[in-house]
Parts: sequence; structure tokens; C-alpha cells
Amino acid sequence: MSKKIGILGSGSVAQTLASGFLKYGYQVMMGTRDPQKLNDFIGKSSGKILVGSFLETAQFGEIIVLAVKGSIAKSLVTEISNALVGKVVIDPTNPISDQTPVDGVLHFFTDINKSLMEELQEISPSAHFVKAFSCIGGNFMVDAEFNGIRPSMFICGNDTHAKGEVTQVLHQFGFDVEDMGSVVSARAIEPLCMLWCIPGLKNNSWSHAFKLLRK
Ligand SMILES: NC(=O)c1ccc[n+]([C@@H]2O[C@H](COP(=O)([O-])OP(=O)(O)OC[C@H]3O[C@@H](n4cnc5c(N)ncnc54)[C@H](OP(=O)(O)O)[C@@H]3O)[C@@H](O)[C@H]2O)c1
Repeated sequence: MSKKIGILGSGSVAQTLASGFLKYGYQVMMGTRDPQKLNDFIGKSSGKILVGSFLETAQFGEIIVLAVKGSIAKSLVTEISNALVGKVVIDPTNPISDQTPVDGVLHFFTDINKSLMEELQEISPSAHFVKAFSCIGGNFMVDAEFNGIRPSMFICGNDTHAKGEVTQVLHQFGFDVEDMGSVVSARAIEPLCMLWCIPGLKNNSWSHAFKLLRK
């Protein structure tokens, strides 16, 4: 039986990842406050994706994806924490504040010495958070083609087994995986979103990805 994926969110990241998981044979449910807003999207996916509340979706998923606005992630995780116990939680969120970017640089509501994912892990200590998909544009999260080169995806988290499960997904979705360590490393991964967005916000150039080179 294929794994059940509970995707919390209805935006572009949630929709892209839902389509990707469906393509690779997973069972998918999406969670939102307003299921109606997903009617068109669900129609295009031949009705194979289920839709429910945030809590129903968290209860459904064996693997959870937290694809919601960064500023509401803590309140949502607090609300559904019981449904996350023992589960892998893929965390693409970025702590972007509502303040206007300066010279193309986004404003974060977190401090450089404490990431959003560390706060989420503290709220739900029995969930296995893994930072992933946070430092690439939504359009490139599944099967992105960069002239034959696989982009790098930087991940981190405390649970080795959870990172293994997320690594399998990332390999399916076309990434090389760079494991940067424990949840603390989210302090370094989350700001990569700022860097990724600068060419977009300054020059409307959004078609790029990070690659870690080694010799
Ligand atoms: N967009 C990208 O290219 C990209 C790339 C990498 C990472 N990310 C990160 O991925 C996450 C999702 O991004 P996104 O662009 O797809 O969507 P988004 O606009 O950042 O978030 C949309 C989701 O947040 C939920 N939400 C917003 N306000 C809420 C509130 N007050 N209470 C409860 N839920 C609320 C919405 O729930 P409803 O469904 O109920 O409306 C919706 O599902 C973000 O943290 C973002 O920083 C985005």
C-alpha cells in the first residue's frame, strides 16, 4: 500500500507537491480552512486528491507537509500537535514577515540564532521535522530541469530515519540531497530563501536553484 501524505495548505507549494506525490504513486490529502478554494485544482487532478480540514489532513497523513504561510505555522502546529506525534513532518516554511523587502532582501520575523523550525520542533517535540523544499521556487519542487543538472536540496532535522524518508522523496522528485545536520541547522537553511529571492525581487528572474559543488 502506498504511503499517505497529508499536505497542510492550499497554495502554490501545496498544489505542486500534491501533484508530485500523486504522480509518484502516493495517496494525497490536502488540508485547508476552505476546501472550496481547491475545487478547480482537484478537478484537474481527476478527483484523486482528498481535501479536508487541517486536523483531518494531519490525522490522515503518515508523512505530513507543512505548506502554510510561515507566520501561522506555530499556531497551526500547536493546534494539531497531537496528530503529528511520531510522524515525519516535511517543513518548507520560511519565516517571511509582512515588511517590505529592502533592496530585494526579504525581512524575516525570526532571529539568525533561532530558526522557525526549531520553534516548531519545541512546540511538537514528538514530531520528526525535516526542513526541505524551503530554498527553491514552488515551480521547481518536482522534476525541475536545469540542463541535466540535479539541483541540491539542503535538509536538516533531528531524526535520522525521518531524514531518510524525506531523502527518498527528494531523490524521486529530482534532487541531490545535502544533509546539514540537526534542527539547529535550519538557522542556516531558512535564510537561503532570502538569497534565492534576490534575483527575483530585483530583476524578476526566478528560474534558478542551488547546487553544492565538491571536489
Ligand atoms: N511559494 C514558493 O515558491 C515557496 C518556495 C519555498 C518555500 N515556500 C514556503 O512554503 C510555504 C507555503 O507557501 P505558498 O506560497 O504555497 O503559500 P502561502 O501563501 O505562504 O500560504 C498559504 C497557506 O497558508 C495558510 N494560511 C494563511 N493564512 C492563514 C491563517 N491566518 N490561518 C490559517 N492558515 C493560513 C492558507 O490556508 P488556507 O488554505 O486555509 O487559506 C494556505 O494554505 C510558506 O511558508 C513559504 O514561505 C514557498
